Amino acid sequence: MKNITIIGSGTMGNGIAHVFAMTGHNVSLVDISQEALDKGIATISKNLDRMVTKGSITEADKTSTLANIKTYTDIKSGATNAELVVEAATENIDLKLKIFRDIDAAAPANAILASNTSSISITKIASVTKRPAQVIGMHFMNPVPVMKLVEIINGYSTSKEVSEAIGNKSKELGKIPVIVNDYPGFVANRILMPMINEAIITLFERVAGVEEIDTVMKLGMAHPMGPLQLADFIGLDVCLSILNVLYDGLGNTKYAPCPLLVNMVTAGKLGAKTGEGFYVYTAGGKDLAVSPSFK
Ligand code: CAA
Repeated sequence: MKNITIIGSGTMGNGIAHVFAMTGHNVSLVDISQEALDKGIATISKNLDRMVTKGSITEADKTSTLANIKTYTDIKSGATNAELVVEAATENIDLKLKIFRDIDAAAPANAILASNTSSISITKIASVTKRPAQVIGMHFMNPVPVMKLVEIINGYSTSKEVSEAIGNKSKELGKIPVIVNDYPGFVANRILMPMINEAIITLFERVAGVEEIDTVMKLGMAHPMGPLQLADFIGLDVCLSILNVLYDGLGNTKYAPCPLLVNMVTAGKLGAKTGEGFYVYTAGGKDLAVSPSFK
């Protein structure tokens, strides 16, 4: 599998394109507008610069990585020669089902179709294609160039061969694959999201403030980011939607999203991407400042 099509050039899509292109794959990056694609390529270039500065790659590696990526504004032209398609569009089930119908029609019959979904059922996605045995979850972690894990999710019909091929491909990218089964939240988010939700409930019940909660988890449990900062980094809307998948799919009130999280999402305070969540974010700002709402 050398020809890889990636659908979506946002945070996850451009990170996935980055790692495939850096390991010598021919990447076709697809998004709905040239503007979105240009933004994705600019982010890849910036992240490659960071690696050049650190000395982990050379300037020539950066040039060849960027040369491995071609951009397309429609799935049909972007997926014609695909051997593997990795979908990394917005986390919305109707959108993903539409994209998978389009990919299924556009990609060669033997191509594997993977989704980077963080919680939508792979079995459901596979059910709208004519090749459910070749549909699989390939869940990268943010920031993709840095994080080692790829959570591989076998849908109900995913074949053993496809699962093994995606495991081997992840290793080729320098990642460590872990294969899991398709149940709500898979493994990563079934464990991570209740922890984040509990941190928000702890804040909501005024047990402690934002910095105190994050400091306990950073210094006490050696987490690189506290759970509230991590929620801002992931996006509070994404956290809410994953908690709803857990709540609906497992039918247990222990997954019910904290009302404070629901309110923040309703108010448009989605974390780093909107400039405010539990913390406030300014362009180029280095120091993390707690949002005035929690002072
Ligand atoms: N591209 C390339 N390199 C990057 C990068 C990027 N986007 N972002 C950071 N880096 C590199 C830096 O250059 C630096 O490299 P060196 O170690 O060689 O110096 C290294 O990563 C660390 O970066 P920084 O020094 O800038 O900052 P940091 O030490 O605070 O680390 C972090 C930043 C890696 C993001 C760290 O805070 C961290 O690991 N946070 C937790 C991330 C996490 O939990 N991700 C999973 C989220 S859940 C998810 O993605 C799935 C889901 O479904 C919700």
